[in-house]
Amino acid sequence: MILVFLGPPGSGKGTQAKVLSEKRKLPHISLGDILRHEVRQESEIGLRAKEFINAGKLVPDELTIELTKKRISQADCSHGFILDGFPRSAAQAEALDKMFVDMGLTLDSVIYFAVNEDAVVERLTGRRSCKKCGAVYHIKFKLPKADDVCDVCGGELYQRKDDQEDAIRTRFEVYAQQTKPLIERYQAAGKLAQIDANGAIDEVLNRLLSVIGHGKD
Ligand code: AP5
Repeated sequence: MILVFLGPPGSGKGTQAKVLSEKRKLPHISLGDILRHEVRQESEIGLRAKEFINAGKLVPDELTIELTKKRISQADCSHGFILDGFPRSAAQAEALDKMFVDMGLTLDSVIYFAVNEDAVVERLTGRRSCKKCGAVYHIKFKLPKADDVCDVCGGELYQRKDDQEDAIRTRFEVYAQQTKPLIERYQAAGKLAQIDANGAIDEVLNRLLSVIGHGKD
């Protein structure tokens, strides 16, 4: 099964992708996570991407297209994957169509996480991420067992620079201008499935499963 998760910042794409990936044994490919990894490694890509990420702007298409192509070509993606945060622009959507044709793959569905954008600011400002493994928590909705310590690896939790107010505002603007128009594109292609992404994490998960099928967990 090949799924694309689309939605505004904080709509819960990453949280749901992680759970679904474990349930269905599908790789979760998060462009945000891949880029932050490159930044931590101080690779050439990471050094180019860092300022864009911290400011809440899109990293140049040529970088994200190349990273996506490389990742979905890996062996663990041969039975499907969940693409979280790609595509985010018309150029990326076109590039993805081409990758699918070249690799003989078929996109099953684009899940659009529809959410009340005012309400998700609280999700973003309260998010804490693990410095070491990238696991995601929330100071109100998803607490770690010990303050500021990751349950998974014991790493230190921190607040992403782009989860501060100015960058959040920019991310919403970028989403409205460049990513939101993709909803129409995938609707016209008959690939779009919309879910209500408001409410608790489990409620959203149930809606997601009722759209893609409960399958065998
Ligand atoms: P990325 O990390 O992908 O950021 P984003 O798309 O803005 O998405 P978020 O991670 O903010 O939100 P999410 O929907 O995944 O929410 P989450 O589940 O974490 O990208 C970061 C940056 O990288 C971009 O700004 C850009 O610079 C660059 N980039 C990435 N992809 C790119 C591309 N294709 N092209 C160019 N540049 C690219 O949830 C958020 C919080 O809410 C968490 O704390 C979670 O615990 C909590 N939460 C989740 N669901 C619920 C719920 N139902 N109720 C209560 N709390 C919840």
